[in-house]
Amino acid sequence: MTEQNVALWLPKRGAHFAVGPAPRTPPAANEIVVRVRAIAVNPVDGLPGFLYRVVLPWLTFPAVVGSDVAGEVVEVGPGVTRLRPGDRVLGHAFGVEKSQNRAAEGAFQHYVVLMQHMVSPIPDSLPFAQAAVVPLTLSTAATGMFQQDHLGLAMPCADPVDPVDRSETVLVWGGSTSVGSNAIQLARNAGYRVVATASPHNFGYVRSLGAAGAVSYRSPTAVDEVVDMIGESPLAGTLAIGSGSLPKAIAIAARTEGSKRVASAQTPLVARVQSWRAPRQGVRVNGIWGGTLKDNEVGPAIYADFLPAALASGAYRAAPDATVVGDGLAHIPEALRRLRDGVSATKLVVTV
Ligand SMILES: NC(=O)c1ccc[n+]([C@@H]2O[C@H](COP(=O)([O-])OP(=O)(O)OC[C@H]3O[C@@H](n4cnc5c(N)ncnc54)[C@H](OP(=O)(O)O)[C@@H]3O)[C@@H](O)[C@H]2O)c1
Repeated sequence: MTEQNVALWLPKRGAHFAVGPAPRTPPAANEIVVRVRAIAVNPVDGLPGFLYRVVLPWLTFPAVVGSDVAGEVVEVGPGVTRLRPGDRVLGHAFGVEKSQNRAAEGAFQHYVVLMQHMVSPIPDSLPFAQAAVVPLTLSTAATGMFQQDHLGLAMPCADPVDPVDRSETVLVWGGSTSVGSNAIQLARNAGYRVVATASPHNFGYVRSLGAAGAVSYRSPTAVDEVVDMIGESPLAGTLAIGSGSLPKAIAIAARTEGSKRVASAQTPLVARVQSWRAPRQGVRVNGIWGGTLKDNEVGPAIYADFLPAALASGAYRAAPDATVVGDGLAHIPEALRRLRDGVSATKLVVTV
């Protein structure tokens, strides 16, 4: 007998989440259905009601939100040849995106519909709970780094035997965030030197991901320290992550050789407001929307061409480490509360 689907519903803006039955939606062309085994939470999943109007004004209710899943493929739609039932995968769920706006594609349920080109097979050695930390923050980092309207960097290569050396530096301000953890690894796999910021207790962590050096973002001389660390190796681009990151990133880009482009993980609206003076310093800032890569060449280049091989070879690590909050959809609100309290170099996950 077919197992009934269950979802964590958001009945309306600002309401409490509630677990309840949900339809099982079959996959359309180029879609798959995944039996979800682990879900990671992100700030956008737990917005206060008024912020839904600002960040996701198109979202219709009742909604199933959530972006990060790992699990097993159970059905594939017409046109899907790269994935089969039984495959272990991670995937970016797009239910809250304006183009989708569909409960069947929200991560917070047992059976989710995913776009096949935004799904990556994972090695047997990678637990679902750890794999679930990747999708949204990988997508956000990849959008900022590789889309031509952002930093337009060279794409990463999964071959650890013959890494390219581009003799250019990528600055990842906020390197110990989940977005930053992905950005550092993407940049390294694309052959760039990486300078990152983090709290001193995470310097070892960002170095383990491939950063050549790290500076404390709280240091009053952080901008000078980063400029010194970039040194003679020209900037290829800057990813600004975390509150207060944009003015610092703009100052550094203005003072160093190389690219004057900054991609900000603040949403496009916030980035525009915070960077109105940047053009006077010759710096170009774009705000990232971490879902746009699904509609261009970057999405499949990362999820289909790069990530499966890079995870299998060890060239890429699912990072940061997962902290499992509980088992079952009912634990997601608790995970969102803990996320609001703040985390350091970890991603909160619920197993299902
Ligand atoms: N635009 C988009 O589409 C999109 C998508 C996803 C996320 N985001 C945004 O990207 C940011 C990072 O998200 P995330 O999920 O990666 O975060 P996260 O992993 O929850 O971030 C936790 C880390 O943030 C670091 N941090 C705290 N304050 C900071 C600051 N002022 N500057 C730099 N780092 C700071 C801390 O580093 P230490 O412990 O080392 O101090 C901590 O490890 C958030 O603002 C989020 O809203 C945007």
